[in-house]
Amino acid sequence: MKWLEELRSHIEIVGKKTYLDNAGAGPLTKDAADAVRDFLDLWQSEGEPWELALDHIVEAKKYFARLINAQSWQNIAAVSGATHGLNSLLSAMEFKPGSNVVVSSLNFPTGIFSFHALKSRGLIREVRVAKSINGYVPLSEYERLIDDNTALVFVDYVSWITGYRERIREIAEIAHSRGAFLITDAFHAVGVLPIDVKRDGVDALITGTYKWLLGPHGAGFVYVGDELMSKLKPAFSGWMGIEDNQVSRRLRNEKLFERPIDTSTFKHAKDASMLEWGTWPIIAFEGALASMKLLTTYEVPWRFEDYTKGLVEKLADSIGELGLKVTTPLDSHAAIITFEYRDPYGLAEFLGRNKVVVSPRPGTIRVSPHAYNTIEEIEKLLYLVRRYIKSS
Ligand SMILES: Cc1ncc(COP(=O)(O)O)c(C=O)c1O
Repeated sequence: MKWLEELRSHIEIVGKKTYLDNAGAGPLTKDAADAVRDFLDLWQSEGEPWELALDHIVEAKKYFARLINAQSWQNIAAVSGATHGLNSLLSAMEFKPGSNVVVSSLNFPTGIFSFHALKSRGLIREVRVAKSINGYVPLSEYERLIDDNTALVFVDYVSWITGYRERIREIAEIAHSRGAFLITDAFHAVGVLPIDVKRDGVDALITGTYKWLLGPHGAGFVYVGDELMSKLKPAFSGWMGIEDNQVSRRLRNEKLFERPIDTSTFKHAKDASMLEWGTWPIIAFEGALASMKLLTTYEVPWRFEDYTKGLVEKLADSIGELGLKVTTPLDSHAAIITFEYRDPYGLAEFLGRNKVVVSPRPGTIRVSPHAYNTIEEIEKLLYLVRRYIKSS
């Protein structure tokens, strides 16, 4: 496959290792590393490239909006990561007295602690946790927990722990029928799965860029749909969160500091930049933008979804034949597969010594290929797992 070879030529690590831990952190692309270096060189030799930075923040939002089929790039906020994005969004939401929030036990912990923090400040009354069985949460559990006092439902698009791909559209329908918003953490989906926030009824989405988007740490996005946006009232702000911020001056072709910034009134931005408080981590966004440009040349993720599913399914069949239990629900999965192993660290360290990278997790091994991985790499992993099992 020509596209596969081409994509691999942008990822240096593939010449050194079989890298199958994209759910931990994706490898940095050459494009991302070069873009960061170029920006730093420019800064070092010419002074801070501020206007270029403003343009790149807007461009990054445009690329991201396309990846999730958002209404507009103005529905996107540029933040420093998934956790920051979630907390920035929550701090702008108002909760009716007695509200509850429904989260999934399959969520990454960050998306549960934020709600405990809201509860401990008395801003919501209850955090309800939808329980998983056999690696997924049945829809009936959401039906049971979401009621007229539910302010929002927060569910990871793909679970970090079992690789389950949530039935986001169905959960959004249940949430909406009871007046609640649906917010999703799509960190394990964006860049490898086609996401359509409009089709799925997603009210807000958060992600970082250092997994399937193959960017560096320190950049992330929040998508906010129009209805939720109209209800936000930021509790915190700053010079990027107001209507007359640097980006809007730049888009109007104004000289950025010709007029004073009026501090006698407060008009928060009407778009998602109301969730941005100050200067963005621009160096990280340089890298994230370069990787998004690379990924979108392959019509990712429309092409990548089936390809990575094929890798995961091949692995699932062979792992089953080895007598190990696959813990990923295979009727709804993405590019993550997990299987039980009594000594995950022992196996992962053996694989690491043989230049294959996977993640050990409590009682399981997580393997997370991306579109640049090959079937030969999956076969190498299987060969080593067989060898390890025989020798231990
Ligand atoms: C699904 C998910 N959300 C959020 C996070 C945390 O992201 P950050 O620490 O960049 O905010 C992770 C980290 O692995 C994750 O897997």
